[in-house]
Amino acid sequence: MGPAMNAPKNPKTFHIKSYGCQMNVYDGERMAELLGAQGMTAAEAGEADLVVLNTCHIREKATEKVYSEIGRLRKHGEPMIAVAGCVAQAEGEEIARRAKVDVVVGPQAYHNLPELVSQAAAGTLALDTDMPAIAKFGALPSRRKVAPSAFLTVQEGCDKFCTYCVVPYTRGAEVSRPFAAIVDEAKSLVDAGAKEITLLGQNVNAWNDDAGTGLHGLILALDRIEGLKRIRYTTSHPNDMTQGLIDAHRDIEKLMPFLHLPVQHGSDRVLKAMNRSHSRDSYLRIIERVREARPDIALSGDFIVGFPGETDAEFEELLSLVDETAYAQAYSFKYSPRPGTPAAEMDGAIPAELMDERLQRLQAALNRDQAAFNAATAGRSCEVLLERPGKLPGQLIGKSPWLQSVHLMTDAQIGDMVEVDIVRADPNSLAGVERVKAAA
Ligand code: SAH
Ligand code: SF4
Ligand code: F3S
Repeated sequence: MGPAMNAPKNPKTFHIKSYGCQMNVYDGERMAELLGAQGMTAAEAGEADLVVLNTCHIREKATEKVYSEIGRLRKHGEPMIAVAGCVAQAEGEEIARRAKVDVVVGPQAYHNLPELVSQAAAGTLALDTDMPAIAKFGALPSRRKVAPSAFLTVQEGCDKFCTYCVVPYTRGAEVSRPFAAIVDEAKSLVDAGAKEITLLGQNVNAWNDDAGTGLHGLILALDRIEGLKRIRYTTSHPNDMTQGLIDAHRDIEKLMPFLHLPVQHGSDRVLKAMNRSHSRDSYLRIIERVREARPDIALSGDFIVGFPGETDAEFEELLSLVDETAYAQAYSFKYSPRPGTPAAEMDGAIPAELMDERLQRLQAALNRDQAAFNAATAGRSCEVLLERPGKLPGQLIGKSPWLQSVHLMTDAQIGDMVEVDIVRADPNSLAGVERVKAAA
């Protein structure tokens, strides 16, 4: 039997577009490797036979983006469209009802993508939103060529069930990949060109194995990989911030002085309604211990304004927590009710204007602290890992240990580590001059 009349042709080229968090970026890279191993080649969005939209469901706007993107793709041609990621998991068949797509594949099932693509080419909607725990990793090809700074997913899913959040539903329960598999993948990333590895997980610091190694034990093992220069990890939950991990920031040189530790809010009433299971004080005490272990650490966080029932006084408590912590950088969001989450049923919706006003005030405070943190780096020198070309000829952009972007003119190559004097600080980046190595 030949393919059905309206079936898309068997794709030879693909384009993957990832939205949302770094875990999606990692999954996007793995899907590209998987399709490449099938003999397909990467192409620009407008020219690809297969477009994979690797989606995010975290806020309403993120979800709506997917549907408008599908509309745009359909207007300009007839590529095969695969919806992957968290919208695929959350909305499944609903996507196929709302828009014309060929494949729907969840974040734990994308190792089946080639098979699903064949199925779609034969004319049937191909849908796989099963959640076999970490089965996909064993079914993926090995890493071949990667950027100097690479991602490595070590943990997936979330058991925390914050009342506003879809992640426990889209990514499933917390699972840790096995120690040996992670060390192997880290080694192959280094062989493929990585100098820095960022360990990823929705709750990365919940990573553990049967031996109770803990994330700090894993980092210690990666520290021994020759050629690997820097280790980072994200995102962490305050409840899983063990003393072992805090001490690692003092003891392990390759572990960079940066910690993304979302607090979400500064009011105990709101934190409780969010089901965060930490308090304002317990969070601030963790920050204190982290700073004791590593005084120069750059702190980062996530914040939600306008959670149902948030009063003026509670919002002020959020601002005062921000003042107290002095973040080096941060992400802040307006609360977005998500279908199926407990908070979506709560009373006390915050009017849009008030929500905007609060977000602006919070962002002004965060921008102030970021500019101050950057300004404090000016005049210092540090190592920079060169990651990409800058706008000017001879200019490269890299990252400081504190995850700031640093621009400099240099003869060095992308992937090199150079010692740099920071000569100017802007609110969002730094300008540096390469140190000339003293003659031996
Ligand atoms: N596992 C990570 C990341 C979760 S998603 C963590 O717990 O930090 C990233 C951020 O999106 C969250 O930290 C939170 O600040 C924000 N977020 C999640 N759900 C949201 C919602 N319904 N509305 C607005 N922001 C939300
Ligand atoms: Fe979402 Fe909370 Fe889990 Fe983070 S800890 S992924 S915010 S449920
Ligand atoms: Fe979005 Fe899913 Fe990541 S909802 S933030 S892509 S885990």
